[in-house]
Amino acid sequence: MAIHIDETNQVFHLQTDHTSYVFQVLAHGVLGQLYYGKQIHVRPSYANLARRELKNSMPAYDLTEPDFQLDAIKQEYAATGTGDFRRPAYQVTQADGSRLTDFRYDHYEVVQGKQRLTGLPSTFDDTDDGAETLIVHLTDDLTQLDLELNYTVFPHQDVIVRSANFKNHGVTSVTLNAALSAQVDLPDDRYDLVQFSGSWSRERHMIRTPLRSGIQLIDSVRGSSSPQQNPFMMLARPDTTEDAGGVFGFNLVYSGNFLDQVEVDQYATSRVLVGINPADFGWHLRPGATFQTPECVLSYTTDGFNQLSQQLADFYAQHLVNANFAKRERPILVNNWEATYFDFDDQKLLGIAKKAKDLGIEMFVLDDGWFGHRDDDHTSLGDWVTDPHKLPKGIGHFADQVHDLGLQFGLWFEPEMLSLDSQMYRTHPEWLLHTPQRRATPGRNQFVLDFSRQIVVDNLFEQMSKVIDETHLDYIKWDMNRYMTEVFSTGLPVDQQLEVSHRYILGVYQLYERLTSRYPDVLFESCASGGGRFDLGMMYYAPQAWTSDDTDAIERLKIQLGTSYGYPQSMMGAHVSAVPNEQTGRITSLATRANVAYFGAFGYELDITKMPEEEAEIVKEQVAFYKQHRSLYQFGKLYRIDSLFEGDGNVMSWMVVDDKQDHAIACRYQLLSRPNAPYLRQYFKGLDPDKQYRINGGDATYYGDELMNAGLFLTKVFDETAAVKQLADFSSQRFVIDAVE
Ligand code: DGJ
Repeated sequence: MAIHIDETNQVFHLQTDHTSYVFQVLAHGVLGQLYYGKQIHVRPSYANLARRELKNSMPAYDLTEPDFQLDAIKQEYAATGTGDFRRPAYQVTQADGSRLTDFRYDHYEVVQGKQRLTGLPSTFDDTDDGAETLIVHLTDDLTQLDLELNYTVFPHQDVIVRSANFKNHGVTSVTLNAALSAQVDLPDDRYDLVQFSGSWSRERHMIRTPLRSGIQLIDSVRGSSSPQQNPFMMLARPDTTEDAGGVFGFNLVYSGNFLDQVEVDQYATSRVLVGINPADFGWHLRPGATFQTPECVLSYTTDGFNQLSQQLADFYAQHLVNANFAKRERPILVNNWEATYFDFDDQKLLGIAKKAKDLGIEMFVLDDGWFGHRDDDHTSLGDWVTDPHKLPKGIGHFADQVHDLGLQFGLWFEPEMLSLDSQMYRTHPEWLLHTPQRRATPGRNQFVLDFSRQIVVDNLFEQMSKVIDETHLDYIKWDMNRYMTEVFSTGLPVDQQLEVSHRYILGVYQLYERLTSRYPDVLFESCASGGGRFDLGMMYYAPQAWTSDDTDAIERLKIQLGTSYGYPQSMMGAHVSAVPNEQTGRITSLATRANVAYFGAFGYELDITKMPEEEAEIVKEQVAFYKQHRSLYQFGKLYRIDSLFEGDGNVMSWMVVDDKQDHAIACRYQLLSRPNAPYLRQYFKGLDPDKQYRINGGDATYYGDELMNAGLFLTKVFDETAAVKQLADFSSQRFVIDAVE
């Protein structure tokens, strides 16, 4: 049993295998948070944790209880305007302009398992993995609003999923100006905030800073979860390392404007709020209507960052990713974007596809430029019909030719966008997201379609279905190359304009839902100018995401390393591209480029027809090597060893280990070489201490405990080229580790 309830004291204790989350009904039906952390015993009451001591100069709840002061109470889902001056979890504006509510505990329900949400990506428990759901009902008599707080406990992955649901049982409409998914009030502030921030081409670099008094927040107002900030955030004790120490993880199953906020108050408590960004948000809740927030994933461990990443990866594989693909090995692909950009015809593409087949690659992906008359990025978005100049016999015929080669076929779409030079815009100018009589702001020479309109979603579903049917597609790369501006829908009334950003994302989810339902075997890879929408909302539909437009191996190390804290390697699209690299001009070896990209859903993104024969031979070997170890790379347990975010940032290493601890692959990357360098040892993790292992097929054997604790002295003995590579800039050393039979 995961949910323990003491009826007398009205205490709710949610237990996972290693954590406890406890809250209680306090006076006046207020929900007070008592504890979240390492598992503790179930007891009838934890009254000692419910703080009630008179604090000077603070409002009391009423005259009879001067020591019941909301500002000093840790709460589950706090209101605004009635004495708690910290930021609230929600705000309801009523017909008379009031923003006050008085939600009181009413009753609870416990249901086995976890239902999916309708219209939003969500967690599930299709495999009866022991999930239990607690629904706590609160009511506000004056407005006749009901508030449901939902908690699903996933015991074996130490995860609790929270969301809120508002129902209007009254006779007048209200507006939700904030409706967050989760609030956690922690009793102290001795935490580091760990965030994953950056920009286009520099996504998800890890930043760790101690909490300080006041509000610190990470958010997006760009309409997508964004490359600037990622919704995944951790709070770690200052001494937490990869291998030890307490750390909370929070992530939102959502792809639009989000807020992750921590407020450290005057008593050094830390209020965590996660949900849809209240900035520029308002939801008109009519009588009889409900509003469901996205879900927030909460997880905790005392065993450091690496354990948190592993339990989250396990959780997503079992309870979030499209089950059809969660454990399905991903094909090795070649994508033509960096090889041709817009400049191609069917012969050029077929040349790449044929060469790909020779090299053992499994899928050919045709990127941007195959439709309308798209010779550059000014045109044709919205018109998903073949460009007859590039593919004279149509996209269906081209797909047949690729399939006939024995390759899978994938295709690029950017469904949410519109070019002014398009048939769609000429026919439906009102479908553009814009504010009447105001300028519409272009981004990458394109505009955003109003996905809050059902007719737009229907149109894209029809257009895309036609192409999928015609091509028998195996894969779709769903791109999204600009942020949202002029967020206004001419299809919605005045009082619903603050709903547009959220309705837009609901439209995107609806299209994903319909396509993935109709075409369950099509693999989706999400993309937003690279890693600009790398989030759990996308992960639910698209098991892969293009990690970054930056394909430089060295830059990719930080991007993939940062991403690995909150997302599994199977989600990270990772390709070998040409040198000098398009984004950085850097030259790295083919070996290093592959050694970086192997730790993801692997592929190539360069003109393989122009490669010298010796390089093509190397690619052939790389493809064969990856096929042999693909399952380990994509689904093995990931252990981070040396980090570029720590120390002098010159060396990184990590490894993947299979469930039985029989096979592992580690890789060490050196950025710049140093003369007369200290001796090097490589330490490993995750091996069985009592098993003996061979490295790279060598004769010597080593116990797991030796490799993990004493390490391996790095000399040139691993292979004849290692010494050279070890000394060079941007070198990488790979260790294939196999248990001795
Ligand atoms: C941005 C993506 O990240 C690239 O991989 C490529 O698909 C281009 N868009 C095409 O326009």
